[in-house]
Amino acid sequence: MNRQLCKNLSVSILALAAALPAQLRGQEHPIDAPAAPWWQSAVFYELYPRSFADSNNDGIGDLKGVTSNLDYLKDLGVDAIWITPCFPSPQVDFGYDISDYENIDPMYGSLQDFDHLLAEANKRGIRILLDFVANHTSDQHKWFQDSKGSRTSAHRDWYIWRDGRGPSQPPNNWVSTFGLSAWTFAPTTQQYYYHYFYPEQPDLNWRNPAVEAAMFDVTRFWYKRGVAGFRLDAVDSLFEDPKLTDNPFAPGTDTFGRRNMDEKYNQKLPEVHGVLRGLRKVADEYNAVLIGETYTSSIDELKHYYGDHSSELQLPMDMMFATVDKLSAAEFRKQIASVNSSGGWPVFLIGNHDMPRSYNRYGDRLHDDAIAKLMAALYLTLRGSPILYYGEEIGMQNNDPKSKDDVRDPQGKVGWPTEKGRDGERTPMQWTTDLNGGFSQTKPWLPVPPSAATHNVAAESADPASILNFYKRLLYLRHHEKALLEGEYIALDESNPNVLSFLRRYRNDGVLVVLNMSATAQKVTLDLASHGFAGATHTTLLNDGTGATRSQGADINLEPFTAYIEKLTD
Ligand code: GLC
Repeated sequence: MNRQLCKNLSVSILALAAALPAQLRGQEHPIDAPAAPWWQSAVFYELYPRSFADSNNDGIGDLKGVTSNLDYLKDLGVDAIWITPCFPSPQVDFGYDISDYENIDPMYGSLQDFDHLLAEANKRGIRILLDFVANHTSDQHKWFQDSKGSRTSAHRDWYIWRDGRGPSQPPNNWVSTFGLSAWTFAPTTQQYYYHYFYPEQPDLNWRNPAVEAAMFDVTRFWYKRGVAGFRLDAVDSLFEDPKLTDNPFAPGTDTFGRRNMDEKYNQKLPEVHGVLRGLRKVADEYNAVLIGETYTSSIDELKHYYGDHSSELQLPMDMMFATVDKLSAAEFRKQIASVNSSGGWPVFLIGNHDMPRSYNRYGDRLHDDAIAKLMAALYLTLRGSPILYYGEEIGMQNNDPKSKDDVRDPQGKVGWPTEKGRDGERTPMQWTTDLNGGFSQTKPWLPVPPSAATHNVAAESADPASILNFYKRLLYLRHHEKALLEGEYIALDESNPNVLSFLRRYRNDGVLVVLNMSATAQKVTLDLASHGFAGATHTTLLNDGTGATRSQGADINLEPFTAYIEKLTD
């Protein structure tokens, strides 16, 4: 077929494709459609408030610290911030044990400080999301305090109380994911209560309609204040088998040295979806978004969390992508194809407050900064909404405790030394080269690693080749290139074990992303013609230094761990 004919044909195929209903083209709502939901084009930023910025120098971050750094986030290219729990809490699980859902913990400030943060964020076009911890409360919450008082108290059935199997024997064999039993005996009423996490985090009984009503009201309380949505914590764990059937054991042991369990009777029960549909109805009244902490093990499970006709979570996190544990083009290619096949709008992240930092998980200790940029170029150019974890944009590293005495996360105390806990990925944001990375003038609650001397906002802002400036350029492109925002994803060169290449195509525009995930130089020859870009003009959008070169014809040469992005205009 001659070149012009081929070009004309592909143009008409493109025009045809553009005329197809959006769903058939693999995108539910084109972002430029009047009713397009805001969260499809948003870049989310997960912010751990204890560690972001300390305005009153007590060693712990706070809301005023967040407010005073909104310009930094705006400049970075963030559209929405998810703040991990900042509600009153005894801080056993650093906020994930809530004692009052409708207030702010004094260590972070006040409701007025929160309203001020919302107003300032709003001025900058940044939305605020909160964390909704629905599975459990703190044992200090007034509901639990009442519940444990007597077998007939008003809130008794708000939690899961059962008799033991026999003297000193818990009701069944379920274990807490944090290393201990899932049952704690309460002497006052001579029964056990259930907790999938720490004993200080008793599970709510979601089979009780009063619990559901009270918790749905919590979301209304914050929506009315101006919150744009929630990240739903631990949704997999909301329900348990009422008969308390023992879980079967599975091969191997966990990091606490216990036999693995197939948690079929206390995880991902079908009833979870009813609650999610209910939460979604409330969210829809406020044009809010629900992001799910969804630890799925198959795409069918993930698909289920979107719900039929998108009736559950708009954005269930793809933790299968997030937990890919090696820099492998084949593995990422597989995960991307898999989430795209779900039909929902994907959510991509590479780190959070529960997993070691991506810098350590993918780095090879020789090319760590290049790899951090490469990973950014991956998850920020895919079709879907990305969630950045604070500090990822400056290449923050894990700083694990050196001894058991240094551990703050109880999980690390129980599991030391095989399980060191999650302190390492929660250390203070590195702002400057000053004392404590400029986070606080007092000793911070977790130590700042030596890498703060080079990896901090001030130093990286001044260095055009820094990870931070790379993130900024990428996020700028994301916001300005239609193809990156909503173009379809087309995998290229799919058998290449070293280089992950793909095209994002929106009408006649394309953005080509080429990522060398190997430690050796690579050359790729990509077939763009069959995707409608036979005679396209190529304009480099992003290249890490001179890491990639386009030689004559179709070849692209890439240095080790280089990302190359170009625009194709037909
Ligand atoms: C979620 C949170 C984690 C917390 C747990 C219990 O997994 O991300 O940090 O410890 O829930 O609330």
